[in-house]
Amino acid sequence: MHEDRCHRHVNLGAGFDTRAYRLSATAHLPVWEIDQQKNIVAKEKRLNEIFGKVSSHVRLVAIDFDHEDFRAALSSNGCSSTGRTFFVWEGASQYLTEEGVRKIFDSLARAAPGSCLAFTYVCKDFLDGRAHYRWDSGHKRFVATKVWRFGLVPDSVEGFLIAYGWDLIEDVGYDELARRYIAPSRRGLASTPVERIVYAEKRRQQPGYGIEQAPTALRTPCQTDQLISWCPVGQKHFCWRAQPTYSTTRDRPEA
Ligand SMILES: C[S@@+](CC[C@H](N)C(=O)[O-])C[C@H]1O[C@@H](n2cnc3c(N)ncnc32)[C@H](O)[C@@H]1O
Repeated sequence: MHEDRCHRHVNLGAGFDTRAYRLSATAHLPVWEIDQQKNIVAKEKRLNEIFGKVSSHVRLVAIDFDHEDFRAALSSNGCSSTGRTFFVWEGASQYLTEEGVRKIFDSLARAAPGSCLAFTYVCKDFLDGRAHYRWDSGHKRFVATKVWRFGLVPDSVEGFLIAYGWDLIEDVGYDELARRYIAPSRRGLASTPVERIVYAEKRRQQPGYGIEQAPTALRTPCQTDQLISWCPVGQKHFCWRAQPTYSTTRDRPEA
């Protein structure tokens, strides 16, 4: 974790993640753990049982991502909106609607440049039923029951992130993670190709949120060295090199 460059750690859908209570490298950072009310209440109770209190460097914040803006929840819980943040969002995006996921990215789009994000997603073909990855029981348990609702196509992740002002640094499958981290520890943990993990960094230059429709003369087809992406604010595609050059009104791409 880039604890040296971030001022705080925000764990989205933290559940019973214990990073904040055991990693010495991040012990000096303030942490906000966000989850559903019932999990926040349960975690607070458990922390009180174990440590006698919730550690002073951690704030537990209740939210429903599908309906609430996490930035507003952070702000009313003492988290300033300035300064670089390390966001972790692990094992949780699949539980949301696409609207809920986009709501999170709308907020992430406003993160300070240089912020970091590690998040996991489930492959969309598993949710569509086009691939079961030899995990029929998982498909029956999570997809058929609609417990898991959101997924991404690995090839679309970079464009999806760019649209919100984040640069993809790495998108790796759990098999690769197992090779890197589980094998050296000689532990026998299983990994799955259904879920992948992304590391991204907030672009230092903001994309063209809110740019005006450019004069028709400027609305030429994208060149290959330009990026085209979905702009969540203003709901337009736009292209830019160093600066936004023009916007178009093409169809919104698939997630
Ligand atoms: C599988 S757990 C992952 C927990 C933790 N991040 C980890 O990796 O151990 C998924 C978490 O997402 C949270 N979650 C799911 N839907 C949510 C929603 N609509 N709003 C807030 N949290 C939600 C759940 O409460 C749960 O804690």
